[in-house]
Amino acid sequence: MLAVRVAERFIQGEVFNVWIQSPETGCGKSHLAMSILQQVNEASPQNRRTLFLDFGRTMELMRDSVGNRESMYTQNYFVTLASKVDVLVLDDLGAETGDIYSDKRASEYTSNVLRSILNSRQHKPTIITTNLSGQRLLTGYREGGRFIPPMYDKKMMSRAMRKVEHILFKDTPDKRLLGF
Ligand SMILES: Nc1ncnc2c1ncn2[C@@H]1O[C@H](COP(=O)(O)OP(=O)(O)O)[C@@H](O)[C@H]1O
Ligand SMILES: [Mg+2]
Repeated sequence: MLAVRVAERFIQGEVFNVWIQSPETGCGKSHLAMSILQQVNEASPQNRRTLFLDFGRTMELMRDSVGNRESMYTQNYFVTLASKVDVLVLDDLGAETGDIYSDKRASEYTSNVLRSILNSRQHKPTIITTNLSGQRLLTGYREGGRFIPPMYDKKMMSRAMRKVEHILFKDTPDKRLLGF
């Protein structure tokens, strides 16, 4: 299976990003990302460090820290943390804006955070899971005469999608409906 192969390549020290995409929720993207981390954790002889970040929750904590001096979850905290680990999962990219079918772009703030994280990891592997389509991420698209813009900065995304492995779920039933 592709995910096992991906984990093996990470364990061997290969560097590439992984995009796990599906239009639906509940088909196992987060589960798969977590299982890759688990394999790396278990097999890696050098004690590699891995981190799983729910991107929406991360952004929420970060925003909250702006007005809350007690909070340790600052932008700097997360970006530094994300830059240090050997394998990072950014889970559910796009969910932070609420409705993925709206024509909203991510806020400048979110885009900047994402850019900082990705820039700090140019030589380390990152796994990104998302319900967003390639078009929504990269180019934007036309729908009923309306232009739906790309969610994030085009340049940033095309860089993040260089040297990638794609794992696409198509027509995978919602596992939550199957009583797993
Ligand atoms: N391969 C699998 N085997 C068993 N349960 C799974 C598997 N993949 C996902 N699940 C379960 O199905 C549910 C939905 O999976 P999740 O990874 O959250 O989907 P997504 O991230 O695509 O929305 C979760 O409860 C998860 O534990
Ligand atoms: Mg998920």
